[in-house]
Amino acid sequence: MHLTTEQLPKNLRGTIWACLIAPRPIALISTLDTQGVPNIAPYNSYSGLANNPPLLGVSFSRRGDEEKTTLANIKETGVFVINLVPRFLADVMNTSAEGTDKEDDFKRLGLTRAEAGTISCPRIGESPAALECRLLNTVPLPPSRCEMVVAQIVGVTIRDEFYTPENGFDPLAADLLASVGAEEYLSLNGESLHLPKTW
Ligand SMILES: Cc1cc2nc3c(=O)[nH]c(=O)nc-3n(C[C@H](O)[C@H](O)[C@H](O)COP(=O)(O)O)c2cc1C
Repeated sequence: MHLTTEQLPKNLRGTIWACLIAPRPIALISTLDTQGVPNIAPYNSYSGLANNPPLLGVSFSRRGDEEKTTLANIKETGVFVINLVPRFLADVMNTSAEGTDKEDDFKRLGLTRAEAGTISCPRIGESPAALECRLLNTVPLPPSRCEMVVAQIVGVTIRDEFYTPENGFDPLAADLLASVGAEEYLSLNGESLHLPKTW
């Protein structure tokens, strides 16, 4: 079968890319607003862009006419944390996408607020590893309405049980969660999950 984007059935237009560009890693991104209120939300459009120094990009769609809180906070503070998501945080991850503003998301989600080593932005204590990021650039992505954040990873926290002298981090032992569709997920240990969209 071959279809141009215009020929895609209407019911598939929103979801097919999620299934074709898969599996994707999931991050819970923690940020602070200018008042110091923490925000946490899931993002799976992030990817490594360079390794020396390590750079990554994350793409943000819009919520109606507005920027998502995570993007607005990153622009205001210049920093954020990519918290890797293991299987046991799947439900918390899905709930966090609901996106309620002006509330301390560590409290709302029952997560532990931990200090990052290099930036003034909290990380999630339960996460097996956290990448501390400094904003380098924002890139509009026309003709879409999305915008990409390009950032440098300036520090990393790895929980001791997942640290390996050979590779530094063991994603299988951490049982990380991947997106394999709009509402489908797969843990690295092979469990598939269906989590209905909350946002
Ligand atoms: C697994 C998962 C991955 C997501 N990835 C993205 C993404 O890459 N880009 C995006 O704009 N929204 C993404 N979302 C939707 C946001 O998490 C959602 O819009 C959320 O309300 C944003 O919260 P915020 O405004 O606090 O940042 C994703 C949602 C889920 C459940």
